[in-house]
Amino acid sequence: MKRYLVTGGAGFIGSNFVLHLLRAHDDVRVVNVDALTYAGNLENLREVEGDPRYAFCQADIRDAEAMAAVVAAEEPDYVVNFAAESHVDRSIEDPGIFESTNVGGTVNLLNVCRAAWERPGGGVGEHRYLQVSTDEVYGTLSLDEPDTFFRETTPLSAHSPYSASKASADLFCRAYGDTFDFPVLITRCSNNYGPYQFPEKLIPLMIHNAVHHEPLPVYGDGLNVRDWLYVEDHCAAIDLVLRKGRIGEVYNVGGHNERANLDIVETIIRLVSERLDDPEINDGLITFVEDRKGHDRRYGIDAGKIAAELGWEPKTPFEEGIEKTIDWYLAHADWVERVTSGAYKAYYEEMYGHRGAARA
Ligand code: NAD
Ligand code: TYD
Repeated sequence: MKRYLVTGGAGFIGSNFVLHLLRAHDDVRVVNVDALTYAGNLENLREVEGDPRYAFCQADIRDAEAMAAVVAAEEPDYVVNFAAESHVDRSIEDPGIFESTNVGGTVNLLNVCRAAWERPGGGVGEHRYLQVSTDEVYGTLSLDEPDTFFRETTPLSAHSPYSASKASADLFCRAYGDTFDFPVLITRCSNNYGPYQFPEKLIPLMIHNAVHHEPLPVYGDGLNVRDWLYVEDHCAAIDLVLRKGRIGEVYNVGGHNERANLDIVETIIRLVSERLDDPEINDGLITFVEDRKGHDRRYGIDAGKIAAELGWEPKTPFEEGIEKTIDWYLAHADWVERVTSGAYKAYYEEMYGHRGAARA
């Protein structure tokens, strides 16, 4: 039986990962540690609340005492660190919290695990720590060189405060591996999409606005490219790296699915309009707005290493994944309404009001 401690398990990818683990393994213990910021939502985990293999603990990864207590009580074999501030636009407004949570929180977690795992004679037994990093640490690729991709050896060159904080955390993890023989693994994944993603991110925001006939705010010329991966495929990759990856290694994870933002928005319009049989959901809703500062032009992942070493490939074609995602959001309008009420509305006005695409 393996015991997992998952941080940030009430967020988008973390909650999908917790659900994935409990579905994929019978003999498992999963403890979810989450501070429940605006992005954390225990509703995502309602179906496993009563599962004896699962437990939740509200704590902040920056809190050394709380984290040491949960590691001592649960004795996890694996720690998977998802907990982070994750939205680039918020990092441009308020970089400090990104440094504090993403860098300080990660270093704190590394220290807590080291203290709990290191044995007097050396070594850490079978323990493993996996840092959920991102392809954004590599910086940007050019649209003019479509055959160039991020590889694990590509130098880190982050641009946004978000990606700078993730790159810094990523480097700390490698440093703990190199310096202390700490059993670290790192995954660097491309953009995820799927159920439970907070509607500040491109895909759920566009679905939500389309349903409500609100402007669809496309930054700049809409030609920035992201490599989209269905969240379930990312969860499978993380679990595989945790169990079978080589300690100290970095594994890129990506969808082989690069698309311009405008293509994504047009696809969403078409599918939402068809499903709701509503011709008023059309390209006329697209509103080009002021570009994001320092907007990375293109992300593209070479995921050849994880394919060759561990046999991982994305299973969900984009056409299938985007339909599943849209159907999930349409069927969970109540979830969306709850997470978009109150504080989110104020956030939306602040972020988009000055760009000229606030709610009608
Ligand atoms: P998210 O914002 O949906 O969730 C983050 C979770 O972390 C929330 O539940 C929040 O409450 C929790 N959290 C925040 N600060 C915390 C703290 N100090 N202590 C404990 N918990 C805290 O993020 P996500 O999109 O699910 O991303 C999860 C991880 O995956 C992040 O590390 C992100 O950098 C990485 N990542 C995301 C993507 C993507 O496309 N979303 C792609 C690659 C990597
Ligand atoms: P996002 O979902 O924020 O992910 P990331 O910035 O981490 O890649 O944004 C994805 C792309 O969509 C990015 O190029 C910015 C763009 N975008 C818009 O054009 N409009 C929006 O309202 C949002 C949130 C993003």
